[in-house]
Amino acid sequence: MATLIGGLAVSHVPAIGNAIANKRQGEDYWRPFFDGLGPARDWIQAQKPDVAVVLYNDHGLNFFLDKMPTFAVGAAESYANADEGWGLPVLQPFKGDPAFSWRLIEALFAADFDLTTCQEMRVDHGFCIPLSLFWPDGPPPVATVPISFNTVQHPIPSAKRCHHLGETLGRAIEADPSDKRVVVIATGGLSHQLEGERAGFMNPEFDRLCLDKLVSDPKALTSYTGRELVGLAGSQGTEVLMWIAMSATMTHGRKLVHQNYHIPISNTAAAVLAIENA
Ligand code: DHB
Ligand code: FE
Repeated sequence: MATLIGGLAVSHVPAIGNAIANKRQGEDYWRPFFDGLGPARDWIQAQKPDVAVVLYNDHGLNFFLDKMPTFAVGAAESYANADEGWGLPVLQPFKGDPAFSWRLIEALFAADFDLTTCQEMRVDHGFCIPLSLFWPDGPPPVATVPISFNTVQHPIPSAKRCHHLGETLGRAIEADPSDKRVVVIATGGLSHQLEGERAGFMNPEFDRLCLDKLVSDPKALTSYTGRELVGLAGSQGTEVLMWIAMSATMTHGRKLVHQNYHIPISNTAAAVLAIENA
């Protein structure tokens, strides 16, 4: 049976990708973020996962406002990165594991999640930057399963729905007949708003509450509606939905490995969280 090792979550601000490309990690602006990531990166590298299931949101590269699946799962041999307009270098395609993807898809459908299945899928900064952070020395040594959540075009899925998806996904991973070691990575958040009158809005108090509950009691975060999350976390802070789903995948319990909170990177309260499925 496969093993769900644990979960990671990290912000995916495009400027992080530019800082990596321009080797600016040691500069005053960037050091608190990159240093704060180290223990999570060391932990996951030591765990040697075979597969990373990446819960992220597509920002208009693969899906646009004309067609927006609520949950879309990749089942491709590989996932191409493409120029998405942030000046980010285009990375090598990421390896997929279609057989594993399809088994997860089957399990999620069996639990009544009507997913969009993607045999071709391109990936943006929401997917790429976290993998570059956790495996900075080259292409990640894992196969990937991208799962895109709609956190962009309202109505977005409720926190309760995302939590339920996470629970189902965690059970599906551990029921998999392979002997794969799997990590679930959530990307995005924490609080941020990029546009409108509240551009630059962040909410450290709410972020701290989330970081606490994501380890101790993620269900406590499931009462928020999409509208309430926009109010509390900012219009892009809805990306916390992936963090809630990631935490809910843990089948045994949650042991905190590491967390860091640093405000701001670009317009975002940047955080990292690593939890063990223990
Ligand atoms: C920023 C944050 C995001 O989550 C994103 O997708 C794009 C930009 C930012 O803070 O600049
Ligand atoms: Fe984003």
